[in-house]
Amino acid sequence: MSLRLGDAAPNFKAQTTAGEIDFYEYLGNGWGVLFSHPADYTPVCTTELGKTALLGSEFARRNVKVLAVSVDPLDKHEGWVKDINETQNTTVNFPIIADADRNVATLYDMIHPNASATATVRSLFVIGPDKAVKLIITYPASTGRNFTEVLRVIDSLQLTANHSVATPANWTHGEDVIIVPSVSTEDAIKKFPKGVKVVKPYLRYTPQPDL
Ligand code: BEZ
Repeated sequence: MSLRLGDAAPNFKAQTTAGEIDFYEYLGNGWGVLFSHPADYTPVCTTELGKTALLGSEFARRNVKVLAVSVDPLDKHEGWVKDINETQNTTVNFPIIADADRNVATLYDMIHPNASATATVRSLFVIGPDKAVKLIITYPASTGRNFTEVLRVIDSLQLTANHSVATPANWTHGEDVIIVPSVSTEDAIKKFPKGVKVVKPYLRYTPQPDL
């Protein structure tokens, strides 16, 4: 049974390039990104892990721990990490799980048999501090993910977890946000002192409240 938004993220212990990890202990009280890719020593995956490493300070600033999953063994990861560092001008600064027994891939339904019988697809899960699944994205092997978009969604998730707002299409940090329908305009005016712009009774904007 595949995971859905709001489900508890399954915990696991796994061998990684940083030693054995208990997923929940690794996450602590912060946020997490768990993501799989088809295989080591493949070109698109090399760029994805490189880009994630280059964005390391952006993930850290948001209190997000990153963990990659690959069904290849540890010794293969170690050689591949050297290639990623060299070709992508970075230092991979997050662990990569050696999921040779497919335990994590199975728990998170990362193998889609109609895409490949053995390789994981490009699955990505954002996990909240409550260990619930907040975002699920699935890309095919042929398309590398946009990790700036992942950070953008995390900005939205972290904002909307604490304020009665939602973020509009293509929103980025700092732009106006939408007041959720469950808040009346009368209450919104009290709740959002920076101002409420009513475009339609159901479409109301306010400046981002946590700035
Ligand atoms: C890649 O990561 O480059 C890749 C992996 C499997 C199929 C196609 C591309």
